[in-house]
Amino acid sequence: MEKQNAVVLLLLFVLLLADATTTVNGEDSNTKKGFGTTGNKTMQMMEIAAFLGHVGSKTSCGYGVATGGPTAWGLCYNHEMSPSQTYCDDYYKLTYPCTPGAEYYGRGAIPIYWNYNYGAAGEALKVNLLDHPEYIEQNATLAFQAAIWKWMTPVKKAQPSAHDAFVGNWKPTKNDTIEHRVPGFGATMNILYGEGVCGQGDVDSMNNIASHFLYYLDLLGVGRGKGGTHDVLTCAEQRPFNPNTKIASS
Ligand SMILES: *[C@@H]1O[C@H](CO)[C@@H](O)[C@H](O)[C@H]1NC(C)=O
Ligand SMILES: *[C@@H]1O[C@H](CO)[C@@H](O)[C@H](O)[C@H]1NC(C)=O
Ligand SMILES: *[C@@H]1O[C@H](CO)[C@@H](O)[C@H](O)[C@H]1NC(C)=O
Repeated sequence: MEKQNAVVLLLLFVLLLADATTTVNGEDSNTKKGFGTTGNKTMQMMEIAAFLGHVGSKTSCGYGVATGGPTAWGLCYNHEMSPSQTYCDDYYKLTYPCTPGAEYYGRGAIPIYWNYNYGAAGEALKVNLLDHPEYIEQNATLAFQAAIWKWMTPVKKAQPSAHDAFVGNWKPTKNDTIEHRVPGFGATMNILYGEGVCGQGDVDSMNNIASHFLYYLDLLGVGRGKGGTHDVLTCAEQRPFNPNTKIASS
């Protein structure tokens, strides 16, 4: 019960933020093509469920035998538990220099990693995250704004954002089709985590994220039947958009 209240509160919060995100994405908010405002009502709810699926799975402290099952334990952690490094990439020392002492480990509702991601998110949100990456961990609004920024922003210019891949704005190229990348929830995992979970068949790390999406589809009244066929719901057979990049998958 408590868990459901938390989800309802979270949903209200996310919907309140929806207007702000269209600006983050550089779109005119009147076009209604932002986060949770694209397509018909069903599609809008599905996108919220997809976003929450990522949030729930990435912040979960649940495990297989926990009460309510592993999907009932999202929004537990607000930062990476055991960072093995500070995630400072010197390649970006001119654009997004690491602040001495700062650590850019995973933080937020959909965790961001690395100085260049903190730098880019900070620019978009107009907050100095390079000097203060800890803000994302301390401020829940920022934790969700950074997550929505990540959802709305392509990793590379020629590629779709998770948002575009999910709502169908993205039209796969011939290469995408050859490499089994199709619009849907699976493509959002591909964009956000790449080879960390995709293109390896039905691995647990991927299925865990997909099952959170289905859980939230049920919780929001859409129903898991809208999750899509296996090739749309998962990225089991998809080749990663960006093989060998440093997109951490936590
Ligand atoms: C909502 O849009 C989806 C595709 O974006 C479509 O499949 C579905 O039929 C639409 N539902 C209604 C009620 O119009
Ligand atoms: C949290 O972040 C938001 C968005 O940047 C900001 O408006 C708010 O003042 C911050 N809250 C605190 C307590 O710093
Ligand atoms: C398609 O994939 C091939 C092989 O990976 C690559 O050489 C080519 O540049 C790609 N074409 C486009 C348009 O991305």
